[in-house]
Amino acid sequence: MTNFRVTAATAALLCFTVLGASTALADNGEVNVYTYRETKLIQPLFDAFTADTGIKVNVVSASSGLEQRMKAEGANSPADVLLTVDIGRIDEAVQAGVTQPIKSETIDKIVPAQYRDPDGHWAGISMRARVIYASKDRVKQEAITYEELADPKWKGKICIRSGQHIYNNGLFAAYAAKYGEAKAEEWLRGVKANLAQKPSGGDREAARDVAAGKCDIGIGNTYYWALMMNNDPEKKPWAEATKVILPTFEGGGTHVNLSAVVLAKHAPNKDSAIKLIEWLMSEHAQHLYADMNYEYPLLSEIKLNPTIASYGTLKPDALPLADVAKHKKGAANLVDKVGFDN
Ligand SMILES: [Fe+2]
Repeated sequence: MTNFRVTAATAALLCFTVLGASTALADNGEVNVYTYRETKLIQPLFDAFTADTGIKVNVVSASSGLEQRMKAEGANSPADVLLTVDIGRIDEAVQAGVTQPIKSETIDKIVPAQYRDPDGHWAGISMRARVIYASKDRVKQEAITYEELADPKWKGKICIRSGQHIYNNGLFAAYAAKYGEAKAEEWLRGVKANLAQKPSGGDREAARDVAAGKCDIGIGNTYYWALMMNNDPEKKPWAEATKVILPTFEGGGTHVNLSAVVLAKHAPNKDSAIKLIEWLMSEHAQHLYADMNYEYPLLSEIKLNPTIASYGTLKPDALPLADVAKHKKGAANLVDKVGFDN
């Protein structure tokens, strides 16, 4: 059992809290959720929340710009809660001034400190890891470090999306947070020198290009591989041509990022919003949320999706995501400086 998730005792305590709270809040509460997930995909989660608590959920779904929308709506914003992904976007919401601290002992107790804001402006719900899609035919090794991606042995063999994409920004920022920007620059130059082609496409295309023999390893998030394997017959061969290796930092763990929740600055239904945020850490919600998104739940009791479990045991790096956020600008500057995307 890994130690980064929480114990059965805390989870039991949470269940008690959530159930206890729901009885007290049986008056017709509602909560307005802004989310980047498609409504039809996320509705089962909110239906479960309504069934558990009696609180109705109204969903606003968009593919981009929800933070800007909240900012433009200002004090009149109906948003109570924003569900978003990646520390880069989470930090943008905080910087945009559309959040307020989540004051919840339950969240402070359940969500490990490295996965929530020290000031309470965001809390992780589940994790994804930035990993390697390696050619089954051409890559024999079963372990790899992030540092090794700069080793000349991979010259001409790596495929990756733009260095400015938030997923890479998070990884590069983590590298800078651990080693400092000078070392991060040197490493990025090494990775750049190993690229098989100009950064392009998305994470799935990295697997596609490995399958096509253009490169031996691609870099992608854990859930994309599962989506290709299980939900996308056209792209299944891309997953089948590759194996997922969970890389680690030397002497550390795997770079994880988050799906997270923020409490809107002007939340009109703040009590219900806090109930929802706390409920998202309940066993019921963690199971639904992690399974529907192929993510790693934060609660240790929850069984991983079998595809995610097949990658091996995830040992997340100990670096707090708040530290990663502090280096995102520096990482973006380095990408330009070394001409990573050129
Ligand atoms: Fe994604």
